[in-house]
Order: sequence, then structure tokens, then C-alpha cells
Amino acid sequence: MTRNFRKIKLDLRSGDGRPQAARRCVNLEDRMGKMDDLIFQELRSERARKAVPDGFPALAEIPGGRYTRRDFFDLEMARVFRRSWVLAGHISELPKSGSYKVFAKLPSAPILIVRGRDGQVRAFYNTCRHRGAPVVKDHAGRCNVLRCQYHSWAYDFDGRLVQVPDEHEFPNLDRAARGLIPVRCELLHGLIFVNQDEAAPDLLEAVGPLAEEWGDLGLADGQVDYRFSRRVSCNWKCGLDAFQEVYHINTLHPQTVGATLVHSVAAMSLLPRGHSRMCVQLKTVDIDEVPDGGWPDGEIYRRSSVAHTLWPNMVVPWGAGSGRFILFWPIGPGECEIEVMGVGPAWGEGGLPADRDLANTRFDGVLMEDIENLAAIQASLESGAFTGMMLGYQERRLYWAHEEIDRAIGVDAVPSELRVPPVLGRFVEAPASRRPHAATRGAA
Ligand code: FES
Ligand SMILES: [Fe+2]
Repeated sequence: MTRNFRKIKLDLRSGDGRPQAARRCVNLEDRMGKMDDLIFQELRSERARKAVPDGFPALAEIPGGRYTRRDFFDLEMARVFRRSWVLAGHISELPKSGSYKVFAKLPSAPILIVRGRDGQVRAFYNTCRHRGAPVVKDHAGRCNVLRCQYHSWAYDFDGRLVQVPDEHEFPNLDRAARGLIPVRCELLHGLIFVNQDEAAPDLLEAVGPLAEEWGDLGLADGQVDYRFSRRVSCNWKCGLDAFQEVYHINTLHPQTVGATLVHSVAAMSLLPRGHSRMCVQLKTVDIDEVPDGGWPDGEIYRRSSVAHTLWPNMVVPWGAGSGRFILFWPIGPGECEIEVMGVGPAWGEGGLPADRDLANTRFDGVLMEDIENLAAIQASLESGAFTGMMLGYQERRLYWAHEEIDRAIGVDAVPSELRVPPVLGRFVEAPASRRPHAATRGAA
């Protein structure tokens, strides 16, 4: 084993080394090593598999209206996106006290994220408590105080209202009760997440096993090395789906991903709360070889192509020096924004190293192959000829994400004709030491 799991910190720091929330230290060497072994065992099994494993259920058709209907979209907005942890940035975007950015990817909820004098990162609705104007209008910057751009009410970085011009004109004003309205904000390995739901579980609980899997990648000390944003005429799940399977790579990406991955040899792991993992055999590396070097370190990254889904709207393919956090932001039933933030090891001053720049260019090419297909798919979904999606065994991660959407909405609130029967819960990956082999999961 070359994997260098020692004591892995679940890093919830604010970026300056001070604890922001609970901090854990877990010896994961054995556990993650076993997880790797089981993934490779599954990949070997996939090479020989000629049928769906015994006991795996036939997946029901995914009703087409989930991709086209306004009422279902509204439910997703209210009960999925308004209640879930979503990625809002990386700590390197807020290097100093007073550094801020505005996160406005979700409709009607512009959120101001700011680093305080104590190093903590906090989030507030970017809505002034005087007459409701945006406190800051630019997307990012640095300031000494958060001064509203309309009448100059000023807030400290912890949200307290600290200055009101002509304050004597407001005899009823109680400054202490008129601070910015906070939004939950937590960091995981330098990744900034926000959640508008006070009742939601903590980030660490919501992320589950992925918190440990990402714990030794050095993301908190990394640097953003890639950015992309494009508005696309498709449902947000239409985009997400394209990145949760490799069934399509030989037809859509014959010169790129299709030339490097073996689409039929993939270990697909369902994780709690709609998350999942996909490890695909590389054409250039035998499963039983361990190539040298590269980032991320770790056997599964060197010996296969790894991608995670962090439900509801993020897919992260790892490799070629970067983790690329691909986000699918809903705009309307047939409209979304696809945003990508790449994070890799810091390279210091100057331009990005040439090899990583080249890797980004290649990634651009693959991304566009997918994106250019999406608007046509959405038009087809809305054509009237589309009844629903039939998903195969290789596409079970898509089904799992749909199941979680219904759980988040509340099954009773989902129109009966749009429901997805929950059948995959018993195939969720168990903790590594007890994780069943894929072919025997049905018997668990
Ligand atoms: S609306 Fe912000 S100071 Fe008036
Ligand atoms: Fe693709």
C-alpha cells in the first residue's frame, strides 16, 4: 500500500488554524485501505460481469415530468436547494480579514460571505436591515467594514450593525436587533458551504463518508486553478446526469474520455444521503499496477479515474493535478448554470504550471462535448415523445440521486405520477470493513 493515510484531520477550520467547529482526528489507515481493496475487488469483478448482479432490482422508469414540470421544479427549489448544504467557494478566495464574496447562485438568496477579524468565515443575506438594498454590489472585494452602498449603514464582519448616519433620526432603532441576518456557513477542508435551513444537520453529518475521503488531499491549502461558468438550456439534473455515468463516453467522447477509460469496468458506490462514488478503470493502467506520483495521492486515484457526487448538485472528478467541482445551479425547469471551480495544490506566485494548464484545456474540451449536447436533450425531453428514463445498472447513481430528492421533498408532497420508488437503500455502501462486494449486495 502506498496510500499515506495516517492521522487524517477532518478540517473544519476557518483557514487560519483556529477551530470553527468540532475538530476530529481519526486513524483511517486500515479503514481506507480496506475501502480501496474493496473497490479494486469490485473493478476486477466488473471485468467479468455479464449480467446484472443477482438480487439487484429492476429500476422503475424516472418520470419525465421531473425534468420539465414547473411544479416539481418549485418543490426542488423549496425543499432541496433551500435546505441543503451547497458549495459557495474556497477559503483561498477570502485570504484576509474583511475579504468577502457574494454567492448568488440560488434565486432570491444572494448571500454575503465574509472573513472576520477572528479569521472565521461567516455568511449573511446580502440584504441591508435599513431598506433592504444589497449591502455590497460587487461580487468580491475587501473592506474595513461592510458599509451599505445606499445610505451607509455599516456592519461589522460578524454582522453587528455598528454605524448609522444621522442615527438620531431613528428613535426606535435598536442596533443590537438590526444586524445582518445570518446564514449557516461551515468549512470542510477549505471548501465553503452554506445552508439556509436552520434545522438541517451539520455539514459534517450531511457530507458523511466523503469528509474522510477528502481529508488527506490538502484542499484547505490548495489554490483555485480553474473557473468556468455557462448558462445552459437544460434542467439542472440533465447536466448532473451526464457526469454520473460513463455509459456514454464511447459515443459522446470517443477521442477524449472514451479513449482513456474502460466504460464497462466501473465501481459505482452509493453513499448515504444521495451521495456516491465512481471509480473507472483506466485504459493505460492495469488495476493491479500502482503508477508513481500525481495528485491526488492515494491508490484509488492512481489506479482508476475517481469522481464523487455530493448531492444535490455537485460532481467532482479528480485527476491531472486538480479536483474540479462541477456545480449545476437551477434557474428554471429547462434552464441551469453549470459552474466549475478547480482546486489543486498551491503553486505560489506566477502563472499556473504548464502541465496543469494543459490539463485544464483538455478538461475544457470534455466539458464542452457534454454541454453542447444538453440543450438538444432538454428540447427532446420537452417534445411530448418522452415519457420517462429507463436506467441501467451502470446508471444507478442517477436513480439514487432521484430517490434522495423525493426523500428531501417528502414523498407525500411529490405528485404521485412523478414519484421514484425507493429501492436502492439496501445497496448503500457499508462502512469499509463491512462493505459487501457489489455482486452480493442484493443478499445483504
Ligand atoms: S438600504 Fe442600506 S443603508 Fe439604506
Ligand atoms: Fe460526458
